Amino acid sequence: MNTQEVIQAESQYILQTYGRAPVVFTQGKGLKLVDADGNEYLDFTSGIAVTALGHSDEEWATAVAAQAHQLTHISNLYHSEPQVRLAQKLVESSFADKVYFCNSGAEANEAAIKFARKYARKEIGDQRLEIGDGLTISNLQSPIAKTKIVAFSGGFHGRTVGALSVTYKEQYRAPFAPLMPDVMFAPFNDLEGARAVIDAQTCAVIVEPVQGEGGVNPATPDFLKGLRQLCDQSGALLIFDEVQCGLGRTGKLWAYQNYSVRPDIMTLAKPLAGGLPMGATLMTQKVADALKPGDHGSTFAAGPLVCTAANVVFDRVNRPEFLEKVRFHGSYLQHRLQTLESDKVTAVRGLGLLVGVELNVPAAPLIAAARERGLILIGAGENVLRFAPALVVDKAEIDTAVDILAQCLE
Ligand SMILES: Cc1ncc(COP(=O)(O)O)c(C=O)c1O
Repeated sequence: MNTQEVIQAESQYILQTYGRAPVVFTQGKGLKLVDADGNEYLDFTSGIAVTALGHSDEEWATAVAAQAHQLTHISNLYHSEPQVRLAQKLVESSFADKVYFCNSGAEANEAAIKFARKYARKEIGDQRLEIGDGLTISNLQSPIAKTKIVAFSGGFHGRTVGALSVTYKEQYRAPFAPLMPDVMFAPFNDLEGARAVIDAQTCAVIVEPVQGEGGVNPATPDFLKGLRQLCDQSGALLIFDEVQCGLGRTGKLWAYQNYSVRPDIMTLAKPLAGGLPMGATLMTQKVADALKPGDHGSTFAAGPLVCTAANVVFDRVNRPEFLEKVRFHGSYLQHRLQTLESDKVTAVRGLGLLVGVELNVPAAPLIAAARERGLILIGAGENVLRFAPALVVDKAEIDTAVDILAQCLE
């Protein structure tokens, strides 16, 4: 099929929920992508912060191919070694005691929401036992509602109904109302705004330490520290959505490590298996204690194939010299972008290799112009260009990308 035939067939057969660029990629290596007409591109999106090791990484591809020849899927009715090896690494490298595996970011947040609701229900039950008045009333009929979830302006947590309910953008939510009840939004990076809505009825607060889709906005340390305190005071769980900013993207293994604030639950997905679908919800033991067999599950989650892929990604990213390079290249990228002389650029911000360039013009025409010159970028909202290259990007590739952007801004 040639490019036009693929594009035509897509519009005929595939539900039109995406605004796709008119390009058909057929190959990738490192940060290089090749389209069906043989044109080469420099990929500064890594498939929306997914292919952390770059496209077709040799070690990753060899391990995946070998595992595919050995065993791909068995379901979670049985044990498998790649899964427990990965779980051990995630737990031992983070605040968490237990991990639940799934297949995407939205699913990881769905699990987080369910776990928070169940935890709150158990806690209220325990309190009622302690005060001695709850023995005859089941928790399900409890008059003490602790079901509220607080989320933030600009936050993005996924497209399934639960995750969508805590996603801020009205245009994503409104067509599908009514969504999950008991959600309140507070202004991002505004502790007083958060204080006004986090109370004894709140079972969880969900926040991205660095907002991705919402415009590449890092949280301030005071904001995350303040949320931790508010959660502790109100008995709510603090959920960090690190689906986009986790696993090395910010130059630390976990984004929360930049802030010295630990969550109760953390969700992961995009880079976890280096391009294969995988999500994870990490939690402390007190949260895990509220869950029992049958409470949640997934057919596909964490099969031997994706876990083998994820073990390769984790082992490569979780090295001091790898993370040091991410920090170095992230600073270099931010520095090069900050020195762009254009009256269209109003701000450059980010953490590590998640960097946003805010414009006073729409981002879409610039993204198209960059693509025509061989640079693949994505937006984050209407007027922010998002740079999320593979974590293995080098200085020369950053120079090329920024030079192409400079030409597009002329
Ligand atoms: C912070 C964050 N959470 C959740 C999601 C949803 O992930 P997925 O598309 O894998 O469902 C995304 C996707 O962009 C995200 O950036």
